[in-house]
Amino acid sequence: MSKLAGITALGAYAPSKVLTNADFEAMMDTSDEWIITRTGIKRRHIAAEDEFTSHLAISSVADLIRRHGEGALAGVDMVIVATNTPDALFPATAALVQDHFGLKAGAFDLLAACPGWLYALSVAKAYVESGMCRKVLAIGAEALTKVMDWQDRATAVLFGDGAGAAVVEAVPAPYGLKSFVLGADGSGANQLHIRAVGRCLPSGEPLAEHLYMNGREVYKFAVRVMNTATIEALQRSGLHSDEIALFVPHQANLRIIEAARERLGLPPERVVVTVDEYGNNSTASIPLALAHALDAGRISDGDNLLLVSFGAGLTWAANVLTWGGAWHQ
Ligand code: UT7
Repeated sequence: MSKLAGITALGAYAPSKVLTNADFEAMMDTSDEWIITRTGIKRRHIAAEDEFTSHLAISSVADLIRRHGEGALAGVDMVIVATNTPDALFPATAALVQDHFGLKAGAFDLLAACPGWLYALSVAKAYVESGMCRKVLAIGAEALTKVMDWQDRATAVLFGDGAGAAVVEAVPAPYGLKSFVLGADGSGANQLHIRAVGRCLPSGEPLAEHLYMNGREVYKFAVRVMNTATIEALQRSGLHSDEIALFVPHQANLRIIEAARERLGLPPERVVVTVDEYGNNSTASIPLALAHALDAGRISDGDNLLLVSFGAGLTWAANVLTWGGAWHQ
């Protein structure tokens, strides 16, 4: 069997400034009790005034180097930054990361909302396994708090900033990125949006100046798609949920995570939850959760992991992978 692509190095970063639920109580008509019972969120990390997505992305790669050494970046020939909040419409934030680390690599941004980092992993897998690239640096980075409406309690309490980065390259069997499920349903574009250079959706609905979300509708979609996408990814991988050592879902809402975990029949100790600490970091949420699980010693070589995400578009993505196989481990 030819080698699969797998994650051989990981890094993550969250800004040091934290807003607690008590801070929001002081800012608007909300309560710690409402936020915790509806979402599970206690804190979120907020980028500094002069800290943007490229800085967060670079800090996550610096963390990757700290964990794995400079050698982890040697031979990276493509940089992908999955983000909804690029520093600029152009140049790509990925080009800023490429330049910062002096990489001899192509660079582009990828926009698929919250599942963007999983989409980036799928692209990295295709590049590596086709022989087009040797190593891909796949980053999810988000400065979402820059685009929030700070008067809107229905969204302001939910999101935070952060970044995560992975090196993807060929790994020996049985390791690597296995099945992917990637989906989109643009008929739900009106549920979650923000304006760039356009004015309206195809339906004629105006695009929002700040992040707009129909929370209730996105919630229903999320519960449904987390279930169908994870089942399909498991089926395609040939694995049963019993064989999943750790479930690493998008960190948007604890109730959505719990519903997905229960449908999979997994015990609580086999799910990673970081939404309490970070809120929803969009593309950064899964790599940040993976870094936490690694730091807590919850991931070992040979473990099967199940990742899943959903977001604006509407989009979704799920992946089954077998952790390990890095040359430097
Ligand atoms: O990664 C992107 C994906 N996004 C998501 O995952 C979000 C998915 N949706 C959700 O997580 C939930 O729908 C929310 C957490 C956003 C909202 O929870 P909910 O249980 O669906 O509440 P709701 O929207 O049905 O609102 C219930 C009430 C409303 O008041 P009324 O109309 O019942 O009087 C809201 O005005 O809660 C009110 N409310 C708040 N109250 C206190 C909304 N936000 C707040 C708040 N504090 N921050």
